[in-house]
Amino acid sequence: MANQLGAISRWLSEYHVIARYRTRWILAIVFLLLAAAATLTVPIAFRDLVDTGLTSEGINQKFLNLLILAVFLAVVTAGRFYLMSWLGERVVADIRDRVFANMLRQSPAYFETLRTGEVLSRLTSDTTLIQALVGTSVSVALRSGVMFLGALLMMLATSAWLAGIMLMLLIAVVLPLWALGRQVRKMSRTSQDKVADTSALAGEVLNAMPTVQAFVRESYEQARFSKAVRDTFEQACQRIRFRSGLTAAAITLAFSVIVFVLWMGVRQVSSGELSLGELTQFVMYAVLIAGSLGALSEVWGDVQRAAGATERLVELMQAEPQIQGGAVGSSVAVMPELKSTTVIAFDQVNFSYPSRPEMLALNQLSFSVKAGSRTALVGPSGAGKTTVFSLLLRFYAHARGQIEIFGRDVLDWRLDELRKKIAIVPQEPVIFAASAMDNIRYGRLDATDQEVLAAAKSAHADGFISALPQGYDTFLGERGVRLSGGQRQRISLARAILKNPPILLLDEATSSLDAESEREVQRALDEILPGRTSLTIAHRLATVLRADQIVVMDAGQVVESGTHTSLLADNGLYARLAKLQFV
Ligand SMILES: Nc1ncnc2c1ncn2[C@@H]1O[C@H](COP(=O)(O)OP(=O)(O)OP(=O)(O)O)[C@@H](O)[C@H]1O
Ligand SMILES: [Mg+2]
Repeated sequence: MANQLGAISRWLSEYHVIARYRTRWILAIVFLLLAAAATLTVPIAFRDLVDTGLTSEGINQKFLNLLILAVFLAVVTAGRFYLMSWLGERVVADIRDRVFANMLRQSPAYFETLRTGEVLSRLTSDTTLIQALVGTSVSVALRSGVMFLGALLMMLATSAWLAGIMLMLLIAVVLPLWALGRQVRKMSRTSQDKVADTSALAGEVLNAMPTVQAFVRESYEQARFSKAVRDTFEQACQRIRFRSGLTAAAITLAFSVIVFVLWMGVRQVSSGELSLGELTQFVMYAVLIAGSLGALSEVWGDVQRAAGATERLVELMQAEPQIQGGAVGSSVAVMPELKSTTVIAFDQVNFSYPSRPEMLALNQLSFSVKAGSRTALVGPSGAGKTTVFSLLLRFYAHARGQIEIFGRDVLDWRLDELRKKIAIVPQEPVIFAASAMDNIRYGRLDATDQEVLAAAKSAHADGFISALPQGYDTFLGERGVRLSGGQRQRISLARAILKNPPILLLDEATSSLDAESEREVQRALDEILPGRTSLTIAHRLATVLRADQIVVMDAGQVVESGTHTSLLADNGLYARLAKLQFV
């Protein structure tokens, strides 16, 4: 019990959930206590009515009082409901914000193990459990707890002997049921995990619909999804069965106790030890107690469920990024940036991907790039070219050796400052579900429409964008599904051009273009690249002919470097590749 509540109270305190909305919490609890007090006075009013008879003096006043009590109860109950529900929604909104903010800090390696669909499921379905807990269960628990205690005290005052017997019997009945509640938490966590699996699966399949259909795998995917749904359902059923049994047992036992005590009470009335009004009052309190116990046991189940969900959310909120930036900001870096002639330097760098530690993706890699020069990285597929870019952007941490940018170790750079100096056109262009204008402007959010247009022209994207139905305002579809591969590449290129950084990384930036477009983009690059330091990855060697330096990689190593002519003369790997392409 302690550690279930521990998980919940940890985030309550850690994220100042209580402190931030203190007034509302206090108001809610005040309303709750008032409502409980009002409910607890109802049995007294009834005893009064029963014992003084229905014909006595002041009967009108008594009924009027009862009515006023009802209105008061209604108002404070509504107030409590409003505040508690508000707090539930607020807490969930805060948690979602926090989880998402923390996800944005994580390094790419984090998402190689965690599926995004799973994060989404945690953000939506797990937070809903917590919302139910804060918005409903907490208030039910508080109210029932208060009612339980209040009714118990009032019952003791009405008839200590009867109340004592009832209390002892109830304790004997409730404790074992309480202990069983722990089981619910384990079941809940498994069941939420299954829900996350289902979402992850659906997300993956829906993102790959054309492939699914091209391979006629609809029924295969349907079967996989059905199985996931069935698993989720069965897990939930198990939990529901367990809780139903628990509820049945709780109600049977609690009411047996009440019936037994009532039977004793009736005998006391007939022997004259208790008045009929007192017994009425006692029974009403007993019903209140049974009701609040029933509510508490159900809430206990909810708490157990939410504890399972909270654990998972706390994991997401507390994950620390594997890559931490250094302290070097822009002001410190300006000087070396101006003076240094070597902009990028790899020195004996070794690197393995975290998910494949036994394989060296880069092996003793060394090369350097002069300011304002154009360097090309070429080599067979899987040689490690994209990996070089990932390390420059510090998506991963290298194991040995040193990488310098503007004369400073990348480890010393603040991550955001380092990445502001670099623009990348990735191998797989990323298009957001927005307009062409917004997609290009992603490179620099404060760019004017004219600047966006100029960047699009440089990337030779202006022509096809203008021809789209709504021009630059045309919605490009999720992941840019409404564009061709080459068009996506040019949008991606325009975005990088708009960012206008000192270093430009082009990963197969023109690979999907036809020869003519490629030549045009190449010409555009010739216009924008001078003065800028660029690293270009290319399989088509025609695109690297004009590079100042060509670095040839194979199996994570630099095998040779030089200019097109010197490499041809060396008659190595480059010459071999060139022979295949240029004859
Ligand atoms: N995230 C990753 N986790 C584990 N291994 C990876 C990861 N990304 C790439 N690799 C592996 O690292 C090696 C180098 O990959 P890289 O993407 O750098 O190749 P590349 O030279 O860019 O190839 P291509 O020309 O096909 O794009 C490959 O063997 C690849 O399987
Ligand atoms: Mg690559």
